[in-house]
Amino acid sequence: MSQIIDGKLVASHIRKELKNEAESLLKLTGKKPGLVAILVGDNSASKIYVNSKSKACNEVGFHSVIKIMENDTTEEDLLKVIKEFNADDDIDGILVQLPLPEQIDEDKIIEAISPEKDVDGFHPISFGNLVIGKETFYPCTPFGIMELLKYYKIDTKGKHVVVVGRSNIVGKPIANMLVQKKDGANAIVTICHTAAPDIAFYTKQADILIAAVGKANLITKDMVKDGVVVIDVGINRIEDSNSAKGYKVVGDVDFENVKEKASFITPVPGGVGPMTIAMLLTNTLKSFKQKMNIK
Ligand code: GUN
Repeated sequence: MSQIIDGKLVASHIRKELKNEAESLLKLTGKKPGLVAILVGDNSASKIYVNSKSKACNEVGFHSVIKIMENDTTEEDLLKVIKEFNADDDIDGILVQLPLPEQIDEDKIIEAISPEKDVDGFHPISFGNLVIGKETFYPCTPFGIMELLKYYKIDTKGKHVVVVGRSNIVGKPIANMLVQKKDGANAIVTICHTAAPDIAFYTKQADILIAAVGKANLITKDMVKDGVVVIDVGINRIEDSNSAKGYKVVGDVDFENVKEKASFITPVPGGVGPMTIAMLLTNTLKSFKQKMNIK
């Protein structure tokens, strides 16, 4: 029997703490941490994400701005908007929701965000600091995974972590965070990806398996060993005629069967997902405190 890792619960604890801290800081400084979420175009999933981020901001007492831009926005226009928010003292965090329309170079946009306001942790300076083990803004999903492992007291030292997926948002940063010579990390890390002739060869060796691919039910029971800790980052829509919406959301892991072998496992939804927003708020508060010179 496995223990279910309840990301919703952990995220709600974090949000409560942030709310309390924001209240104290408001009394102390008369100011609120501020986050702007920039949405370019009409990607429906992105709209939902941006609205959830803004709602979460308001709930913990932060200042929240949503900047909506047309689908045909030029790179130059977006760069101009970022420059304005870089200079805006009411804004501590700038988030440009990805993906962007194809006429815009994502790397250029990420690099235009001031590293002091890079609450997504996507800027090459943030990422470089992460790799060399320096204090920085950690990307929110990997940061959330680290917090879940800590909350459930899952030991990572000397454990074999197998990460499936090599994205800049999850796979690469989580692998680099877990390999650091630090408490809560110090793991032996393998990154496994589409070029692997046999993914199961690697996943079967995992003490901790992190699946971040975006392929529904890719990880099956026969691909893991007994007692494995499973962290499922996938968010995939699959057809479901029993649901009014006509679909349901599942992860990269065949949850029902894999949970019989796992010691711990994250569900989808309700596992890693809620942590991403909680860590975005955490980063925004950190940025605010850095600006105000508060420890
Ligand atoms: N698109 C998918 N995930 C993310 C995220 O964490 N941040 C941003 N900015 N865009 C995303």
